[in-house]
Amino acid sequence: MTTAARSPIVIAHRGASGYVPEHTLAAKAMAHAMGADFIEQDVVLSRDGVPVVLHDIYLESTTDVAARFPDRARQDGRYYAIDFTLAEIRSLRVHERTGPDGAAAFPSRFPLGPGLQGVPTLAEEIDFIGGLDRSRNRRTGLYIELKGPNFHRLEGHDIAVRVLEVLVEKGYDQRRDQVFLQCFDDATLRYLRHTLRTPLPLIQLIADNSWGEDSEVDYDFLQTPAGLDAVAAYADGIGPWLMQIYRGKRADGSIELSDLVALAQQRGLQVHPYTFRADALPAGIDNFGELLDIFFNQVGVDGLFTDFPDLARDFLLQHFVNRTAS
Ligand code: G3P
Ligand code: CA
Repeated sequence: MTTAARSPIVIAHRGASGYVPEHTLAAKAMAHAMGADFIEQDVVLSRDGVPVVLHDIYLESTTDVAARFPDRARQDGRYYAIDFTLAEIRSLRVHERTGPDGAAAFPSRFPLGPGLQGVPTLAEEIDFIGGLDRSRNRRTGLYIELKGPNFHRLEGHDIAVRVLEVLVEKGYDQRRDQVFLQCFDDATLRYLRHTLRTPLPLIQLIADNSWGEDSEVDYDFLQTPAGLDAVAAYADGIGPWLMQIYRGKRADGSIELSDLVALAQQRGLQVHPYTFRADALPAGIDNFGELLDIFFNQVGVDGLFTDFPDLARDFLLQHFVNRTAS
């Protein structure tokens, strides 16, 4: 049985990042209050090997690292988290994401300006979400992405082992209903499943080959029947880019869809596409509700990553058509 038999899950992408700077504890609190089923943690390591919640292996797009440590960039001009101790990372302030030109990546979101919060460790964030679960009488899931596993290995660190250690420490390592582990690198997922023998559900993220992800895998192959057969041998689901499912609108207004969701669900794989943003709609989509209707009601995904968990939750409450109920 696929999870399409029940309501899809809403995954708060970097927290309620449409409203509050990504991966701050404030963004996670807001996502929790909005009723997200799962809250995402992207994880990288500090120089002393501590998992911290940060999307990039770099620090400059979301923190004041360049002002605080101006002489610590590498030759490529970037400030790598792995070059900073946890104490140094703790001293940084997080701001809304900026692009290479220093301007806000999403101009209508939270203002730039002095950051009010720091970078949480994975352990701190788990404590924080657990605390909210207790005070709000909920059971919210963690959806942890291991970023740059091959980069970390070259730097002398095993990010998979470090993340599992935190989950053991916090008592989440056996909570199969409450923790997903996700990665763009198939070799890391196989390592988690077959060598580290985690019982937690694993999600194979699918990028576009042109993005230069930290993996040797061929993402075009992963979307084929043979590729999905291979994924099903080590993972429990896939996390594709939404444009790998929604291909656009034809001239007559009809929607062009791939068969990726059906192919994956036929193999028992859950499908959790990314990233649904009300302020960055795909070509041909007029409003966020239309986009959610395509994915929840027409395609039948098992969940999705969104920067706007309140809007996805409201949509499911008001408009979700449970196709297996009749
Ligand atoms: O992990 C799902 C989605 O978050 C992947 O994209 O770049 O936001 O981590 P990214
Ligand atoms: Ca992610």
